[in-house]
Amino acid sequence: MRSSLVCFNAACRASFDINDIIYNCPKCGGLLEAQYDFSGIDAPALKRIWRERRMSNEPLEQSGVWRYRELFPFLDDYANVVTLREGNTPLLQSTRAAAYGGLKNITFKHQGFNPTGSFKDNGMTAGVAQARWLGMKRVACVSTGNTSASMAAYASAGGLDPLIFIPNGNISYGKLAQALEYGAKTFQVDANFDQILALVRVLTERLGIYLLNSINPFRIEGQKSIVIEMMDQRDWKVPDWVVLPGGNLGNVSAFGKGLRELHALGFIDRLPRLAVVQAAGASPFYEYMRDKGSKPFAAQGHPETLATAIKIGDPVSWPKAQFEIETSDGVVEKVTEQEIADAKAVIGRSGIGCEPASAATLAGIRKLRLDRVLDYHADVVAVLTGNVLKDPDYIYRYHTGQLKAPDGSSIAPNFGNAPIVVPNDAEQITALLA
Ligand code: F0G
Repeated sequence: MRSSLVCFNAACRASFDINDIIYNCPKCGGLLEAQYDFSGIDAPALKRIWRERRMSNEPLEQSGVWRYRELFPFLDDYANVVTLREGNTPLLQSTRAAAYGGLKNITFKHQGFNPTGSFKDNGMTAGVAQARWLGMKRVACVSTGNTSASMAAYASAGGLDPLIFIPNGNISYGKLAQALEYGAKTFQVDANFDQILALVRVLTERLGIYLLNSINPFRIEGQKSIVIEMMDQRDWKVPDWVVLPGGNLGNVSAFGKGLRELHALGFIDRLPRLAVVQAAGASPFYEYMRDKGSKPFAAQGHPETLATAIKIGDPVSWPKAQFEIETSDGVVEKVTEQEIADAKAVIGRSGIGCEPASAATLAGIRKLRLDRVLDYHADVVAVLTGNVLKDPDYIYRYHTGQLKAPDGSSIAPNFGNAPIVVPNDAEQITALLA
């Protein structure tokens, strides 16, 4: 099947070889995306084949990404694929979370069930496959934590050397620990995510290292599988809304592209509306879209949020994200630190749990519902992007009333559940439980 890299900028649309090692359009500097000749795609037949693959013991078919490879056919063969059985993440319902959000029902697509505990694995298996196909030996990324954990795992599993660059003191220990354990050479840089991305781009260019940030179009291709799998699990019934947190805005770009392709190829009969939720202290996309893109995009120099995964002030993929929000008649919302913390605790009390950035979804839903953007009966899928164990420090502080927002203000443990210190005495404990 013919595939190419095409400039996303509508005024350019220059086309390049799929195997060129480029991350921006060499002509205009725009973002790149993979494009394919999809003629011959037979949606009903593929739906059957994808379902049958779930019963296979073949690694490629067991992957919740590669099972759907017909919709991202950028590889000529699959010998270079490294799979840790990514994807295969569940749809979970919660009455408690629905009530908190003001909805009749809510469905969580929980990407925290991935091998390294975040949605990054869906894209990383694709990016690492392309790196191996290109014969690259070293791969690099800057990360707020999850991308680096995922890249470290997939690169090491595939015999590549992972180099990761992280903002010093600004990623959770769970994520840093993963990168170290998976064998990444880890550089802690005294700068924020946006500044380090510029640095890593210089280094990868200079040293011939493959860049695996979400500006890499193959990561976006892999992340499309999240919505493809979600639709497969829903027997192709389109939800009214898909809600996700926004940081660097790669994921919303992937969701939008995947859904548009599913629609164009006849897998689904309409597009769901996309809702992106940002932390109030790191909300440049919210600010930009509030003005309906009428003012130039303005980066935030000092993004601040305890949801460190989305602490990004200059998201590279904003032009794609804008296109996907507009095409799907979507919205962008922002939520406070208190709102994120409380929504997170409610998701936890549902027995589901997630990391702080993921909880921006439920906090955003509650707000959009109060503003009457969402209907009580709306069919809503919220994507939980990371596992509850990614940031245990945040959890402990919240439940014990010690969590402080970046501005120093205290976050109230409205759904707190502090541990109770007791003597080793059955009588006293019995009295407490009576
Ligand atoms: N949720 C989690 C848990 C994340 O780790 C990220 C991004 C996002 C949401 C936002 O996704 O960037 O595609 O808009 N984490 C990146 C990282 C930046 O380095 O791990 P996005």
